[in-house]
Amino acid sequence: MAPLCAALLARLLLGQLSLVPAWLSGVGAQVGPGFELRQPQKEMSVIAGETLTLTCTVTAGGPLGPVKWLKGWDSGSEIIYDQKGSSSRVIRTVNNSNTDFTILIRDVRPEDAGTYYCVKFRKWDTGDQLYQRGEGTVVSVQARPSTPTLSGPSRRVEPGKTASFTCKTGGFFPRDISVRWSKNGAPAEAELTNVTPGPSNFTYNMSSTVTVTLQKGDVRSELSCEVQHATLTAPLNRSYHLSQILRVPPSVVMAEPQGPVGLNKTVSFTCDVQGFYPGNVTVTWLENGTEMNMGSSPQPTETPEGLFELRSTVVVQAVQEKNGSVFTCRVVHEGQDPISRNAVLWVAASGQKESNTSNTNDGLLFIYVAVGVVCTVLALLVVAILYLIRAKQSKGKSSPSARLHEPEKSSGTTTQESDPNNLTYADLNFTKEKKNIQRIIEVSQQSEYACIQSSQAPASNDNLTYADLDMVHLSKAPRRPAPCPEETTSEYASVQIQRQ
Ligand SMILES: *[C@@H]1O[C@H](CO)[C@@H](O)[C@H](O)[C@H]1NC(C)=O
Ligand SMILES: *[C@@H]1O[C@H](CO)[C@@H](O)[C@H](O)[C@H]1NC(C)=O
Ligand SMILES: *[C@@H]1O[C@H](CO)[C@@H](O)[C@H](O)[C@H]1NC(C)=O
Repeated sequence: MAPLCAALLARLLLGQLSLVPAWLSGVGAQVGPGFELRQPQKEMSVIAGETLTLTCTVTAGGPLGPVKWLKGWDSGSEIIYDQKGSSSRVIRTVNNSNTDFTILIRDVRPEDAGTYYCVKFRKWDTGDQLYQRGEGTVVSVQARPSTPTLSGPSRRVEPGKTASFTCKTGGFFPRDISVRWSKNGAPAEAELTNVTPGPSNFTYNMSSTVTVTLQKGDVRSELSCEVQHATLTAPLNRSYHLSQILRVPPSVVMAEPQGPVGLNKTVSFTCDVQGFYPGNVTVTWLENGTEMNMGSSPQPTETPEGLFELRSTVVVQAVQEKNGSVFTCRVVHEGQDPISRNAVLWVAASGQKESNTSNTNDGLLFIYVAVGVVCTVLALLVVAILYLIRAKQSKGKSSPSARLHEPEKSSGTTTQESDPNNLTYADLNFTKEKKNIQRIIEVSQQSEYACIQSSQAPASNDNLTYADLDMVHLSKAPRRPAPCPEETTSEYASVQIQRQ
């Protein structure tokens, strides 16, 4: 009796005072002959969301009592299946079987990871008592990372500044995970990658950050985060268009008339707003600080680079009262500080030289004209020199028939000098006044012409006029068609040749 009492007392103590359930106290209870419990799976790996199969078979011949599935042993154990009804995710593969106690756990969760035991109990008056326990199956649950999120700065960033982007995923198991960043396909270096325990202790979260220095051209750029994990057949991708957070401020150029404008003429001021992103911009015009009523402003157009541009023009009549007025083009982009450009309208006073937009062209034209004139003058000079040379040459050839040798001593009043042979030399000095009288040209077969140039008008003297042509020896030459070119200083003489 004493051992039985001791056993009962012990069971009572254990069952009531300890946290360990009563049925566990019977570990190592004697096993009936012929009964066998088989739990063949040592380890199982399952991916979260899938179905886990836990196999357990028993032979007939055991004591009265249920077969249960427990997760964990000792104090942390938990009943998974107890033949009465349990979690809706757990079902038996063969209902009402007395030998096959295989169960399925559907939609496995990361927290389902643990060691599972198939246990045979013996019905006892104080409750179920452990009869036999399986070897245990270690179940590990792998979890796929969630679809990554990729977030950027909360405000738009200008080119030249840096922006941080964060890629996040969570709920994965095991812990190992890799993240690869790329910008337009080129790898980018992650600043920081953190893996932290997730909401449950069975999964992890990952957060990776990359810093990018933005450029104007990033309007078309794409940042991408690629997550790879053991549970994935293909990596998970997330991309981000940098245009979402890029703000390219416009450059504003104002075109104004050069110099004063003619009175009452219309003049236009043009404001070029270039290379901005995103495309919403407001352009207002002010005249001496007061907003002008412009009506609707033109819509921006997209450039091939993906930026925007816009041209706004205001037309003003240059009346006297507007002389010295300041016109302002004010551009507001994306709620930023306005960019302003000013121009002053100068009205030309009457008689004042008006502005000409082609001032520079005029300067060029002037240079062209000057160069042209110089060239023409040079060309004319060359032509004149050539002409003179030719004239001189032809003159030398034209009058070989009347070459008269001037005497060495032509100075003085000597008009006629004969050498001892009575030949060759004549000094023909004609006065201009007597030219008409002297000019008796006999046009006949026997006439020959001589062209005599008198270099200077001699002093008036009648007896210097005549030459004794007997003394002139003329060499015969082919008859010339006309007399020598008439010049103011030329005199003519007709010479009769007697033919024999
Ligand atoms: C982990 O990820 C889950 C889901 O992805 C999220 O709800 C949770 O807030 C994350 N926890 C931490 C610490 O990041
Ligand atoms: C310019 O216009 C004003 C009023 O419009 C007129 O009185 C004036 O004569 C005009 N002057 C010239 C030079 O056209
Ligand atoms: C406009 O103002 C300028 C500078 O004060 C002056 O030279 C010019 O004559 C003015 N024009 C007229 C039309 O008054």
